[in-house]
Amino acid sequence: MGLFLQLICLFVVTAFSYSSVIPQLPKYVVKDAGDPVGVTCPQNISNAWLDIVIAIDISTNMGPSQVRQITLNLASELSKYVISQGQVGDPNHYTRVAIITYGSNATVLYDLAKINSNQMFQSAITSVVGSTSDGVSNITDAMTQAYNLIYDQQPCDEPFGCQKVARPPVLVLFAASVNGDTNSIYQTAQQIQQLGTIIPVNYNPTNTMLTSILNTIATPGMYFAKPWVAKDMDWALLQSNCFCTWWAGLQLVVMEPSTQRYTRYAECFNVWDLIGGSLNLNDTDVCGSSEVGYPAAINAQATSDFIKKMLKEEIPNQFYIGLHRQGHSPTGKWMWYTFGGNDMPMGTFNDWASDANPNAPVTCAEEKRQPGSTQQNPIYKWEPVSCELWDTGATNVICSLKACTSDNFCVTAIPSEFKSTKSRPRLPKNKQVGQLKGIKH
Ligand SMILES: *[C@@H]1O[C@H](CO)[C@@H](O)[C@H](O)[C@H]1NC(C)=O
Ligand SMILES: *[C@@H]1O[C@H](CO)[C@@H](O)[C@H](O)[C@H]1NC(C)=O
Ligand SMILES: *[C@@H]1O[C@H](CO)[C@@H](O)[C@H](O)[C@H]1NC(C)=O
Ligand SMILES: *[C@@H]1O[C@H](CO)[C@@H](O)[C@H](O)[C@H]1NC(C)=O
Repeated sequence: MGLFLQLICLFVVTAFSYSSVIPQLPKYVVKDAGDPVGVTCPQNISNAWLDIVIAIDISTNMGPSQVRQITLNLASELSKYVISQGQVGDPNHYTRVAIITYGSNATVLYDLAKINSNQMFQSAITSVVGSTSDGVSNITDAMTQAYNLIYDQQPCDEPFGCQKVARPPVLVLFAASVNGDTNSIYQTAQQIQQLGTIIPVNYNPTNTMLTSILNTIATPGMYFAKPWVAKDMDWALLQSNCFCTWWAGLQLVVMEPSTQRYTRYAECFNVWDLIGGSLNLNDTDVCGSSEVGYPAAINAQATSDFIKKMLKEEIPNQFYIGLHRQGHSPTGKWMWYTFGGNDMPMGTFNDWASDANPNAPVTCAEEKRQPGSTQQNPIYKWEPVSCELWDTGATNVICSLKACTSDNFCVTAIPSEFKSTKSRPRLPKNKQVGQLKGIKH
């Protein structure tokens, strides 16, 4: 199958499950206290590569002294990021910043292509002053202008099928009041959410209408009120810089009850088709290559719950996972793969079926649909199985691909590994997949 056709298949498959380049919590699970979860999004701010649009309410609702406070806080906060247009140093890991102010109307002071250094940002932001006469907070106009700035930087019109990745856009909205058409605020927010994240900062939490609007338009977990702290802002910005492209799969998102925050993880899960690819699961390249991803490590309850939610929409009864015996020896210890394709111990979490025998002399494992499963409520458990597709009749493997993160700049085209003839992403759901015997040589 040519690359073109593969892309079509990717497109169709993806259209079933997501609606944006940077998915808005398509699925998430709730984490148990103390439950360790997979690969975390990196926290190295100096590596961030974002497009940040700052919109500040400069009306009398905010007042000149709070405007001053915001601009000084931002000057300090964003000094940690490399602000540039890419002229110097690292060609990828830099952040662009735009500045919008709004009262009765919104004004774009600097679009995303203007500010070319941290120094220029410092002087630009600290020269913003609050109005002493304009008492209207036109969030509608601020959002519209922000959307236009973000939209102008997108490489494609359609989130699906777009092979290029733009810098993840973020709108940071400082608000003290709201006037005008609230419906269009929601609509514009949805359009921005299709492309990136919204971090509202509420400077008047006693205003219930404003508070309700800002909570609604915020990317889940990213609503803040004054006094906001740098730690929260950095967390939200680095989370914004951690996402799965449409071709990589569903991002692992976990709700942490202790913080009431949705946390994104740097892993993208997908079900891959093995037809026409590897006939044996004893190598990690079944998910493209270990540069890209590996058969999934389901080493925590939250990860397991997330994957089972994903499997609800799948038809096959069995899926290979990353669990394998060390050295593919029938007596080796059970291991998972790391992102680098190395072994890591199984750990304490296990999900063997009640009648599974983990001592069986086979070296691979599957998530297998169990007796009592229904369409509504499928039950999957682990079973040790042969690595040979010929023995199991399995046609799919659950893959975990690396997310785009602050540290992992995403290539602007489909990774060349996807062209590999060894394996490829799964076919559309409605496609016949019972051809395994036909291709056995
Ligand atoms: C952050 O990234 C930079 C550049 O890649 C590196 O020099 C630095 O050591 C990293 N810091 C941490 C804490 O990982
Ligand atoms: C806002 O824009 C409208 C229409 O463009 C204009 O009539 C009005 O004077 C502007 N308000 C301010 C305060 O600039
Ligand atoms: C907000 O700005 C837009 C564009 O300038 C304008 O049409 C609208 O009337 C303004 N709304 C308010 C409440 O001032
Ligand atoms: C993997 O399986 C193939 C086919 O059964 C076999 O030829 C190969 O030696 C195996 N490789 C390892 C590392 O076990």
